[in-house]
Amino acid sequence: MHAFGFDLRPRAPRPLLTVDDYRRAARRRLPAMVREYIDGGADDLATLTANRAAFARWGFRPRVLTGHQSPDLATTVAGVDLDLPVLLAPVGLTGLAHWQGDVAAARAAERRGTRHVLSTASSWTIEEVAESTTRAHFFQLYPHSGDTATALMARAWNAGYRTMMVTVDYPVRGNREGERRTGMGPPPTLTPVQALRMCRHPTWTYQTLRHRRISARNLVEGGGVAAAVESVEIQERHLSQATLNWDDLTWLRDGWQGRLYVKGILTAQDAEKAVSCGMDGVVVSNHGGRQLDFAPAALDVLPEIVAAVPNTEVLLDGGVRRGSDVIKALALGARAVLIGRPYAYGLAVGAEDGVARVLDIFAEEIERTLALLGAPSVQALDPTWLRPHPTPL
Ligand code: FNR
Repeated sequence: MHAFGFDLRPRAPRPLLTVDDYRRAARRRLPAMVREYIDGGADDLATLTANRAAFARWGFRPRVLTGHQSPDLATTVAGVDLDLPVLLAPVGLTGLAHWQGDVAAARAAERRGTRHVLSTASSWTIEEVAESTTRAHFFQLYPHSGDTATALMARAWNAGYRTMMVTVDYPVRGNREGERRTGMGPPPTLTPVQALRMCRHPTWTYQTLRHRRISARNLVEGGGVAAAVESVEIQERHLSQATLNWDDLTWLRDGWQGRLYVKGILTAQDAEKAVSCGMDGVVVSNHGGRQLDFAPAALDVLPEIVAAVPNTEVLLDGGVRRGSDVIKALALGARAVLIGRPYAYGLAVGAEDGVARVLDIFAEEIERTLALLGAPSVQALDPTWLRPHPTPL
């Protein structure tokens, strides 16, 4: 809330100890349209809210006197060794959170021994992100027209990406009313009032204007406002994948030599179909509640999907904000989780260091919770560590 030019929103608690602290600090730094872009969701926000509520319905069954020291957080995803079971989800236009966007995120992931998944709609090109990091990262594909998908896959492969996630929950863009009200579009519009409001965020405005990382650079050259509008239009026209079908997934499988995951699966039947198309893994996801409202919470459908494809790697994202959330997802069968908004908050607050700190918070919370549970490692987790929680938050 603003009065006479002063920002009356409560400050984030200091020091920033939790993901929620980072959220509050990030929200103060960002203009309304970017806040809505990152934090908003579809329609009535039912799925966005459900993603969080699902974690609160599970509690723990701790074991005492287990004598374990220093729990082990290591796991593997797509054959890649990770120091912690948390990856950075593909987030488009991270240059809006901080101009260093995906370059900073990928570097932070590398520093913390995990992986970043680069979005097709990144503010940095595939090649720029690959060059600024030393390890092979993961690439996310919006498979619109065959030619563009082929070109993007070839670029990703040549740049050293060996794991790809195909996002399939975007037949059309979800209805995010907060974005539409604040000018995020589609297409993006900047009214004089919105422009004036941006002056309340001089650092963000100065850096964003100076570095111009506001378009989807893999799709459109240039970083100015016109390019940003054009990249949103391209997303509207092409990335909305209403005609995409299972044959296309098989076609993508044939065209990609590396590991292939499908992102946006919410039923056991679709997980089985994905595996029969040759997928190496599935990501249980509702796009962070940004697409189909009243789609189920990711955690709620995780057990049925794990049961349906027992020999396939299952990842989960949506609403993961605490180390204890990660442990619950792993106990219900996920190999690892992805986080979207939490690292966007870290980016907004402190670029690469901010993302690294958010990953540290997850690592510290996972380690502490495992120790309190009496569990030796993330590998040891299974449903016997959980019980329904009687008093959801
Ligand atoms: C996303 N997500 C997303 N997914 C994807 O496959 N390609 C993309 O370009 C984007 N872009 C995007 C932008 C923003 C601002 C957000 C918040 C999310 C979805 C993302 O990968 C992930 O599924 C969710 O963010 C997970 O939910 P949480 O962790 O944000 O609650």
